[in-house]
Amino acid sequence: MIEYIPGLERVPAAESSLSFIDGEKGILEYRGIRIEDLAENCTFDEVCFLLLEGRLPTASGLDEFTRREREARQLDPYMVDLIRCLPKDAHPMAKLQTCVSAMGMWMGPLGMYNDETRMEWAIRFIGRFPSIIPAIHRTSVGRDIVEPDVTLGRSSDFLRMLTGEAPDPRIANTLNVALILHAEHAMNASTFATRVVASTESEPGAAIAAAVGSLAGPLHGGANERVIGMLEEIGSVEAVQPWFEKKMANQERIMGMGHRVYSTKDPRATILQGLCHKIPEVKSGTRLCDIAMELERLAVPELGRNGIYPNVDFYSGILYHQIGIPTDLFTSVFALARIAGWMAHWMEQMRRNRIFRPTQIYKGPRDVPFTPMDRRG
Ligand code: SDX
Repeated sequence: MIEYIPGLERVPAAESSLSFIDGEKGILEYRGIRIEDLAENCTFDEVCFLLLEGRLPTASGLDEFTRREREARQLDPYMVDLIRCLPKDAHPMAKLQTCVSAMGMWMGPLGMYNDETRMEWAIRFIGRFPSIIPAIHRTSVGRDIVEPDVTLGRSSDFLRMLTGEAPDPRIANTLNVALILHAEHAMNASTFATRVVASTESEPGAAIAAAVGSLAGPLHGGANERVIGMLEEIGSVEAVQPWFEKKMANQERIMGMGHRVYSTKDPRATILQGLCHKIPEVKSGTRLCDIAMELERLAVPELGRNGIYPNVDFYSGILYHQIGIPTDLFTSVFALARIAGWMAHWMEQMRRNRIFRPTQIYKGPRDVPFTPMDRRG
């Protein structure tokens, strides 16, 4: 019997060729290509194709993938009705999870046992997220749902459907990079949830609903929303030191810092930090970023010796805040990207599936005699 490892730390749960992470050197590659090269040169659709097909697309291959993905952006009438009847003040991630689950009900079985049907499922989910998320937000604030414009790329159309206006191209390009950075990250909790549900041959909607539920947690994708609250609580660069000293004295966690795999700064955090200063004049300026950088300056000497550094969530929320995305949508924007990684892992799992069924170390009593009701208490 293998010893129990809390949180399955360093325990391989699958063999995968999707992404490689060197946590000590701060390296992340998708299909062997460095994240910095992809972020610098690709559209999100190119990265989706890379993750799903295992190679970067040719121009014609990308055109065909983009055509299918954009076609899938159209919301079905049932989805609009469903979104409209969800509780207005429910968290967007809870609503997204419901919508994902509903997609499986209405879209009907496609089967999942050949590359074509699996690719069709992947395109359905990747295509729908840029429309579902803005529809969830606009309905919750009493505004009309904006129809997709399939002439626009993912980031541009997502922002247009969210705000009702065509976005500044610089902002759309910035979001495109952020989505690439969030698309895939090996065996994180929400990807593991995808694989576990997929392994029972349950419908892909059930697997992705489980992934959305996992990502929503504050220790995972929900951290980006909490980072903003933390920075607003600090309030100014001058207030960082006393705030940080109090956190350390109380042995409290700093949201957006620490990682199960990285024992150095998350390479995605470095790129996101740079983006925060590329469009400072837009929306709220760099106030929160300045506070975050001061916090990083103070925290790293203290926490870095335990391998605790800024992770992807430390700067992602600041960037989303700067480009005007509402805080309660930050984790949904994470899902807007990670749906690509989840579907790629789902396809890998279905190609060589075996149901997940780990064991446990039983710690309870044994051979306990039964006590009838009248002798209990
Ligand atoms: C994401 O897995 C992925 O790949 C995830 C992700 C992806 O792309 O999918 O990268 C996205 O989820 C990033 C992580 C976002 N979460 C946060 O920022 C929340 C704050 N961070 C932590 O809660 C924590 O660092 C985790 C959850 C990220 C990792 O947890 P681990 O590996 O289980 O580490 P741990 O909780 O066992 O902590 C080990 C020690 C503890 O000290 P001791 O109790 O042993 O004395 O490190 C300390 C912790 O207290 N610690 C922190 C800390 N994180 C860990 N101390 C202060 N601040 C922190 N943020």
